[in-house]
Amino acid sequence: MSLRAVAEATAPGKLILAGEHAVVYGAPAIAFAVDRETRVTLRRRPGPTAVDDAPFADARLGAALSAVLPAGGIGVSIASTLPVGRGMGSSAALAIALVRAAATLDGRALTPAEEHAAGFAVEAVFHGTPSGVDHGVCGAGGCVRYRRVDGAPVFARLPVRQGIGLWVIDTGAPGDTAEMVAGVRARRPGIDAALAAIARGVDHLTALWCAGAPAAALGPLLTDNHRLLQDIGVSTPALDAAVSLALAHGAAGAKLCGAGGGGVVLALGSPNAALPAAAAAQGWSAFPVGIAPPRR
Ligand code: PMV
Repeated sequence: MSLRAVAEATAPGKLILAGEHAVVYGAPAIAFAVDRETRVTLRRRPGPTAVDDAPFADARLGAALSAVLPAGGIGVSIASTLPVGRGMGSSAALAIALVRAAATLDGRALTPAEEHAAGFAVEAVFHGTPSGVDHGVCGAGGCVRYRRVDGAPVFARLPVRQGIGLWVIDTGAPGDTAEMVAGVRARRPGIDAALAAIARGVDHLTALWCAGAPAAALGPLLTDNHRLLQDIGVSTPALDAAVSLALAHGAAGAKLCGAGGGGVVLALGSPNAALPAAAAAQGWSAFPVGIAPPRR
């Protein structure tokens, strides 16, 4: 590979099926890459390295760029079909797409481990102390069970279960991941029993998911997970109401996704056709989501 004038790369967003927050403390999480993505284009040009074009403004973007790019000479364009700050991995997709584009611009090929390590530096700008599950699954694609053991990422591929009816309800309110993670940390050890129950739920869900269990069997585990996320203090009245709305419209189970404090709810098991209108009546949006294919 050789130096290029322009380089472009994409990475998908993600949703966490179960295990958020507990994964920060070494428990496993299950996550899948979604069929929405972020595209980063890098162009060599005179002047300081800066974002020339982005669908959102974020004061942390400059620091994110400098984690990967030189201080001068590169213009950055970002395009995304992911909602920002809603638990769908917008920062993780940006991290991976940026790392991939930077490597291509310099004519370097990254191993998956190098890509993951470089992505940490970008995610840390947005999240403080990320477990790595977000950019791990955005990098890997498909569906993975992720865990951090002694600081090292451990991935296991899980089957990509298409056709089980995955829906997102976006409450429109962003959540702040760093703030939510800090809140959970401050509530320990009082919430450690709930964190342990989340980890047990992930093991149960992994077994059922891998065995091909139907949505009717998987759904209740998601709803149980939501209750535990309530117990650790990361849900909101809007997220609870969105879970109830999904269940009232025929979903087999539903839970908040990501750090909480705002963001999206994931519903499983094909909610009925009235859900989008019912969500819109609350000022939310509801849409189906697919699992992006494994990358490697
Ligand atoms: O809010 P999100 O989608 O970035 O999810 C973060 C997941 C957490 O477990 C809450 C934090 C982490 O680093 O794993």
